[in-house]
Amino acid sequence: KKVVLAYSGGLDTSVIVKWLQETYNCEVVTFTADIGQGEEVEPARAKAEALGVKEIYIDDLREEFVRDYVFPMFRANAIYEGEYLLGTSIARPLIAKRMIEIANEVGADAISHGATGKGNDQIRFELGAYALKPGVAVIAPWREWDLTSRETLMAYCAERNIPVDFDSKKKKSPYSMDANLLHISYEGGLLEDPYAEAEEDMWRWSVSPEEAPNTATYLELDYQRGDIVAIDGKAMTPAEVLTYLNEVGGANGIGRLDIVENRYVGMKSRGCYETPGGTIMMRAHRAIESITLDREVAHLKDSIMPKYAELIYNGYWWSPERKMMQTMIDESQEFVNGRVRLKLYKGNVTVVGRKSENSLFDESIATFEDDAGAYDQKDAAGFIKLNALRLRIAANKGRNNL
Ligand code: ARG
Ligand code: SIN
Repeated sequence: KKVVLAYSGGLDTSVIVKWLQETYNCEVVTFTADIGQGEEVEPARAKAEALGVKEIYIDDLREEFVRDYVFPMFRANAIYEGEYLLGTSIARPLIAKRMIEIANEVGADAISHGATGKGNDQIRFELGAYALKPGVAVIAPWREWDLTSRETLMAYCAERNIPVDFDSKKKKSPYSMDANLLHISYEGGLLEDPYAEAEEDMWRWSVSPEEAPNTATYLELDYQRGDIVAIDGKAMTPAEVLTYLNEVGGANGIGRLDIVENRYVGMKSRGCYETPGGTIMMRAHRAIESITLDREVAHLKDSIMPKYAELIYNGYWWSPERKMMQTMIDESQEFVNGRVRLKLYKGNVTVVGRKSENSLFDESIATFEDDAGAYDQKDAAGFIKLNALRLRIAANKGRNNL
């Protein structure tokens, strides 16, 4: 029996390797991905080897992550509950897919992960896995074992000579964190009191707006079919775009968020997020759409967006309804080409200009000056009167008495 484990190389997932070997008497195959979390992934190899793992997968998935997951999601302007840019949610379907690919390669019939039984991540991993390999078995140790604290985990390691002082020099963060190219998240610890302000030294990717430079930074983003393809005239790959925007955004105090959100399992959870590049992309994408999308297309997109965001949050990336909506969203981006000019300043992203070969903005019609007959103002009278017809009929029947 073989099981593919999503392995970070940290304490928890190292314990899981041993626990799976002992409890299920199975061959563990580890999979570690670089999705831009900002930590070396290569060290996971030696750690896995030390735990007796023979098949070790280490992949750089940064380009695939941004190109096939983050960018498609940003075409929809997806935001969960009005605030959350879905940084963790969007990485899970990719990890699920890669676990299943590996399972098929090595002939494993089970997958395992280190998410708890209280959260969203277990759902996202497992819905993805079942969607791509219907007969797969899932082992979620956190739902089964009784190693419920850091102390019991450490004791488990001590008994079995698992080398745990992996990062003994680094101070262990008091938060449950998750990072990838789109965001870094913090939950737990001091944040469990939703009224307690996060400490300044929690934030890792951005300076505070107060500490940000006193002069603004300008950016020019070039779009093709709704995706950023160049910044300040320099062509970049999707992962390069996001890496760069995270840097300039973080340096200008952009993208910090502190929210209480509704988890799919039913509980509320307080989380802090840093999404500097994503915050910039969201603003800029709306700006380029504002001149290139037809009004009804834009409004229809906006009306399905909350549903699309909820699907991703709840783990349904690989569902038929998400794919259907994606086809519609992608189709809408045909003319979303052009340039957006932005100003970054102390936590703010301000759009200062937008232009496009495919712009629907017609100066000759919109002008407050003489439009030389481009628009006949007299037409508006009939337009308004017919739209008022049902209001007038109802009022005549006494429905609108003051
Ligand atoms: N609450 C966020 C979400 O559900 C972040 C989850 C963070 N995950 C983690 N393993 N620390 O998307
Ligand atoms: C976890 O419970 O493993 C992290 C939080 C979440 O998945 O929502």
